[in-house]
Amino acid sequence: MLKINSNYKQLKDSYLFYETAHRLADYQKEHPDKNVIKMGIGDVTRPLCPAVVDALKKASEEMGVAETFRGYGPEQGYDFLREKVRDYYAEREVELELSEIFISDGAKSDCGNILDIFSKDNLVLVPDPVYPVYVDTNVMAGRRIIYMDANESNDFLPGPGEFEPGTSAEDAAEGPDLIYICSPNNPTGAAYDREQLKEWVDYANEKGAVILFDAAYESFAEGDDIPRSIFEIPGARTCAIELCSLSKTAGFTGTRCGYTVVPHDLVRDDTELNALWLRRQTTKFNGVSYVVQRGAEAVFTPEGRMQIKENIDYYKENARVIMDALEDLGIWYTGGVHSPYIWFKCPEGMDSWTFFDFLLKEAGVVGTPGQGFGNNGEGFFRLTAFSTRENTEEAMERLKKVLAK
Ligand code: MLT
Repeated sequence: MLKINSNYKQLKDSYLFYETAHRLADYQKEHPDKNVIKMGIGDVTRPLCPAVVDALKKASEEMGVAETFRGYGPEQGYDFLREKVRDYYAEREVELELSEIFISDGAKSDCGNILDIFSKDNLVLVPDPVYPVYVDTNVMAGRRIIYMDANESNDFLPGPGEFEPGTSAEDAAEGPDLIYICSPNNPTGAAYDREQLKEWVDYANEKGAVILFDAAYESFAEGDDIPRSIFEIPGARTCAIELCSLSKTAGFTGTRCGYTVVPHDLVRDDTELNALWLRRQTTKFNGVSYVVQRGAEAVFTPEGRMQIKENIDYYKENARVIMDALEDLGIWYTGGVHSPYIWFKCPEGMDSWTFFDFLLKEAGVVGTPGQGFGNNGEGFFRLTAFSTRENTEEAMERLKKVLAK
């Protein structure tokens, strides 16, 4: 008899953003006239920048002419895009070989796919609160997960050894095999500085663990002290894989393009992980479309860089509007500076889902309940700065009004 992957039975009933979308849909069915402002899932609102649109158009035209038409592309991505990614890292004195860069259809997919190259027996360490994809993809594979204790007292930036209470002494002593770090962080918006990340790199090298570093929000980091890549940290080439995406950087949430960096120096079990990942990709992936890769290439041109910066600055200003409102209300928060996410304490001691319902019903604003990101998220709430300025300002006015009642 056919057997399903019974690990799926261990998953929560639904993916967090699916659940919030359903609650919103139910509410809208009952209140079709209510103008609800969405600040829940981190989906962007600024359109693709003109440099990207021009590149997409040009590439589409090429695909309609026999002489310039392209069929299957290289699984690892076209050189024209990988060279741009390599040069982008070189600006921060991170030297990469082209063969270490793999173009993907976004960080989320690779975040799940990369697990193909690791045994099911590995122990996984994720922060709590956490982007649910890190947990769910490992639950699907049947891996055991332990948690870092991210909380208000460590500014939601736990270091090595800060395990959640309840972690067995044996697991704590042995340490994890796979470590997930997202910085600037989703969902909290907190960002590790160089010294803090160095501690993680040293710990991973000492334990022989591998860090899966999610750099999807790197373009929001400000100043020299917040690394945009883990490879800015000495020692990272022997213990880290980096996943990055153009979704938040350049509005590619619907266009889909990102990249994964697997250094040749990363060797475990006498095997280069780069070779395993290449083997996996050439078997299971046919690459990102030529048209989209041309659009992505344009993101890295001087013109594209200038245009996407305008959008990032726009979102940062939205974050400022949210932070100002929380300050006016005397609500504790973190994030917002190096990140499009603002993570705050639910007012009046409400739990996260109660505040979700309160905010939706009383103010017509949708956010994401912290509890959906893990137990440590209970009592916290996440808003994104990806809305329009007008909606962000309106939402904050509504928040102030309902909390003043
Ligand atoms: C989020 O809201 O956490 C993100 O949009 C999720 C994602 O990037 O997949």
